[in-house]
Amino acid sequence: MDSPILEPINSNITSGENKPYWTTGVRPLSFKKLQNNHDTDVLVIGGGLAGLTTAYCLLKAGRKVVLVEDGYLGSGETGRTTAHLTCALDDRYYTLENLYGKEKTRRIASSHMSAIQWVENTVKYENIDCNFKRIDGYLFLHSTDKKESLEKEYASAKEAGLRIEMLESIPGVESEQGKWAIKFCGQAQFHIMKYLAGLAEAIINMGGEIYTETRAEHISKTGAKANGYEIKAKHIVVATNTPVNDWVAMHTKQWPYRTYVIAGKIPKGKLHHSLWWDTGDQDSKWISKPYHYVRVVPFDETNDLLISGGEDHKVGQADTENIPEEDRYDKLIDWTRKRFTDFGIADYKWSGQVMEPIDSLAFIGRNPGDDNIYIITGDSGNGMTHCTIGGILITDLITGKKNSWEDIYDPSRITMKTTGAYLHEAGNMTAQYIDWVTPGDVKETNDLKAGEGAVINVNMKKIAVYKDVNGNVHACTGVCPHLGGILQWNADEKSFDCPMHGSRFTTDGKLINGPATGDLKKIDIQDEIHH
Ligand SMILES: Cc1cc2nc3c(=O)[nH]c(=O)nc-3n(C[C@H](O)[C@H](O)[C@H](O)COP(=O)(O)OP(=O)(O)OC[C@H]3O[C@@H](n4cnc5c(N)ncnc54)[C@H](O)[C@@H]3O)c2cc1C
Ligand code: FES
Repeated sequence: MDSPILEPINSNITSGENKPYWTTGVRPLSFKKLQNNHDTDVLVIGGGLAGLTTAYCLLKAGRKVVLVEDGYLGSGETGRTTAHLTCALDDRYYTLENLYGKEKTRRIASSHMSAIQWVENTVKYENIDCNFKRIDGYLFLHSTDKKESLEKEYASAKEAGLRIEMLESIPGVESEQGKWAIKFCGQAQFHIMKYLAGLAEAIINMGGEIYTETRAEHISKTGAKANGYEIKAKHIVVATNTPVNDWVAMHTKQWPYRTYVIAGKIPKGKLHHSLWWDTGDQDSKWISKPYHYVRVVPFDETNDLLISGGEDHKVGQADTENIPEEDRYDKLIDWTRKRFTDFGIADYKWSGQVMEPIDSLAFIGRNPGDDNIYIITGDSGNGMTHCTIGGILITDLITGKKNSWEDIYDPSRITMKTTGAYLHEAGNMTAQYIDWVTPGDVKETNDLKAGEGAVINVNMKKIAVYKDVNGNVHACTGVCPHLGGILQWNADEKSFDCPMHGSRFTTDGKLINGPATGDLKKIDIQDEIHH
């Protein structure tokens, strides 16, 4: 698929150059910028699903809340999701049982089912028009996986208390007839941006304050600064997807992956609305095995839209599999057409970032070492339920209400049996520093075509360069301001991505997402070359 050469990413709207289906045809969720100092009970930082759910729950519990978001609401990963609401957790129940034992695994399963129920109740209570629908989900084998995996998953998910059935076929997937699937009953789907709009309206109606284009900085126990103003707060919730601060401890427990989505029209009613997932490519080099995830949404009078995702890789490392970012969609189209034969062309395509925790569960609770700073992160491919759990759990921690999920999601937890994964990922991170001494793919800016970027070496310095449509070259440091990772050019979303912890920057060095907290330093490339 050829992509047109567009202007730099408008990170107020979404965090990539490709526009997700959800952001088309809905108004951007923008509010006033912060324009004075504030004193509040709780400052919530981040206007994605985690931040908005938390703000909503806290207001319901009678707390005074200010929420700040540096773009518009949903401009982070929430607006790029596929919005399956599911308890079919992507790291599998047999893994959870092995890591946490049966009793905790039952509580984990129940927390995700409760999250789906909570969303359903809230949609009804607030009368949110977001196409919420209860549907079933089907987990089937990836071609590299064995039937024993499905049997193990069936046994563990049943033991965890979920309503499941083993089927001798995969409903809706004609080409894989005769293959087994686990049916997860009572899952759900919705239109994420319409849901966010409904939550935001309820927040405002309850007296909450939302400020967009307002980036929180200097986050501390007393609050934060934003747009030059001070927000004092008794409690601070950092719901920025990955914590935006130098809290190195958290960044060694989770890793950023990129994942890809295509969406295309299919004849209306031809395929029942369900969720489908395969069990993931067991031959993949990545610790988090990339899997496919599929759903259907109503589109217009004659069509539904089939949305299919997958082909993940660690951020900034797509080339190590010899499949660059921009080529991943073709693989996804091919996989989808073979299984969902009505799928023709991709009308939409986009990619997004997920934080994969070392031990399969999100980190929700007090930031390690802090009493009144809370985080919601590491929500992997189950962010819809993890963010909802986050809002409920953090509200209970702040209001002093006992919550049986606290120990499960505690960010300070140490999970035994994860050493192998930890060493593997730590080795992968160290390997990224080798790029300090290796030459870039492109030697000089003349090699770049319009709309292309690269990280080049000039005078032993790494420089992120981008040639715009008018042939002007933009140059910034190619070194991530977080902890010194060497940035990689993402030709698909037209961004510079850090393979270490997932910070991303636009073609002119503006911060898209953390953990870095500031933009890239601009460089005068001519000056460097002639130095
Ligand atoms: C392609 C894709 C498909 C997915 N599919 C599913 C799925 O089907 N089911 C599922 O359960 N999960 C899925 N996920 C995961 C899920 O979408 C995410 O985990 C979830 O949306 C994350 O929400 P969040 O609120 O934590 O983060 P975000 O939505 O990223 O929100 C964080 C916000 O914080 C803001 N911010 C950052 N720094 C600051 C600052 N300093 N000051 C103010 N604001 C700041 C950002 O602008 C951003 O809007 C998917 C993810 C992707 C990328
Ligand atoms: S995100 Fe941590 S070094 Fe770049």
